[in-house]
Amino acid sequence: MDFLELAKSRYSCRAFTDRPIEDEKLAKLIEAARIAPTGKNNQPQRIYILKSEDAIEKINSICKCIFGAKTVFMIAVDTDREWKSTYEEGFTSGIEDISIVATHIMLEAKELGLETCWVNAFPQSKAEALFAIPENEKVILLMPVGYPDEAKAAPSPRHEESRDDTEMIQLK
Ligand SMILES: Cc1cc2nc3c(=O)[nH]c(=O)nc-3n(C[C@H](O)[C@H](O)[C@H](O)COP(=O)(O)O)c2cc1C
Repeated sequence: MDFLELAKSRYSCRAFTDRPIEDEKLAKLIEAARIAPTGKNNQPQRIYILKSEDAIEKINSICKCIFGAKTVFMIAVDTDREWKSTYEEGFTSGIEDISIVATHIMLEAKELGLETCWVNAFPQSKAEALFAIPENEKVILLMPVGYPDEAKAAPSPRHEESRDDTEMIQLK
């Protein structure tokens, strides 16, 4: 599929079926995550794939935005590995790195006929405690992935909202 067609057809899916993701597709999502560019290629992404009944129950107990998905990528940054700027005090590239990794997963999922939703409305520190995430890692986002429940899943009205170029872009 042409890239813009793929990007336009992706939407935030908020209703998934129980159908599991095939292992080959899961492997491709992991590959997409692996090849994402990161600051100085430090690869600080830590990806927890929640699939067990216990893990799915736990994540549902702290997040309302799992939408019935049976696979959830919980993406964290290893703060020991992330690039740290020598130009700007306190500036690190971890959140940028994780956003690119998640975007790769999101678009590869679409290419594979899967849907996703990017979720940050949950208590990250509770997720870290529940899943015994090491001290040096910060959970950034959740990404439920799976097959859409065709009867319920549809792009929200926000999917079509787009700011005008004149508001968004300035030539200097
Ligand atoms: C950083 C970020 C955080 C988001 N968090 C949530 C969330 O917690 N729950 C949710 O249902 N959607 C969440 N979304 C999805 C957005 O609401 C959605 O992308 C936006 O409304 C545009 O709709 P579309 O993805 O269907 O094009 C998030 C998206 C981004 C990029």
